[in-house]
Amino acid sequence: MKPSPLRMGEITAAFDALFPGGDLVYLPEVDSTNSFIRRLPSERIRSGLSVVTDFQSEGRGRRGRGWSCPAGAGLLFSVVLSTPPVAADAVSLMTLAVYDTLGHLGLDPQIKWPNDVLLGGRKTAGILADIPGDLAPGCVIVGAGVNVLRAPDIPEATCIAQWTPAYPDRTGIFVGLLRSLARWQGRLAGDADAVFRAWEAALATVGKPVRAVSSSGVTIGEAIGVERSGALRILDADGREHALLAGDVSIRGDFTSA
Ligand code: BTN
Repeated sequence: MKPSPLRMGEITAAFDALFPGGDLVYLPEVDSTNSFIRRLPSERIRSGLSVVTDFQSEGRGRRGRGWSCPAGAGLLFSVVLSTPPVAADAVSLMTLAVYDTLGHLGLDPQIKWPNDVLLGGRKTAGILADIPGDLAPGCVIVGAGVNVLRAPDIPEATCIAQWTPAYPDRTGIFVGLLRSLARWQGRLAGDADAVFRAWEAALATVGKPVRAVSSSGVTIGEAIGVERSGALRILDADGREHALLAGDVSIRGDFTSA
């Protein structure tokens, strides 16, 4: 499908109304929106700073992988958030914003632990968090990549265009994402567990037989729930319980989930 330009006038107007005091930067092209923020002088890395681009030459994914998307075919966006009391909630907040945005388009998304958003069991969006540490204490950079018009040519991936008869409007979808993000920020401010509960409820992984790969190796068993920290609880065949804070999980028997 032909790329569509982002209508930055519309986006900026929505952003300014939703995030008073925030700062939205548009870059036609950048290596990575998360990396761009990390390179800024520390006084600029503060809550509300957001960066959106049409193309990343070195988009980054979780666990050292890349994230590639043809120019003008996806949403590539990062925002600086104040670190919530449970750090994982910052990532879940963005995940829920993407999840709700797809739901508002009439689609039926799912979340695969920890933060992949799926359509029809295939990955449509991924979220990456960077902690800038001493550069900006108390802040976390959360980036989202959403495949809108094109998906990488692998069976595990899909894009919004494959699920809607209408031509997906990147600008409208992005404004919807900003609205959802603001709504979830408001909910988190009023109830420290609201994001966790919604994320937990939307997880497609729980209750399924899984194969998990993490720094401690491979764990095979059944996903039986999540801890408040965001860790995935897996019960293996010997009845031993494992808690996985980071890693890749595939739902066994489902070739589409990597
Ligand atoms: C994943 O591996 O699932 C996470 C992918 C995150 C991609 C987004 S695109 C915007 C932001 N900038 C990056 O370099 N990565 C994130």
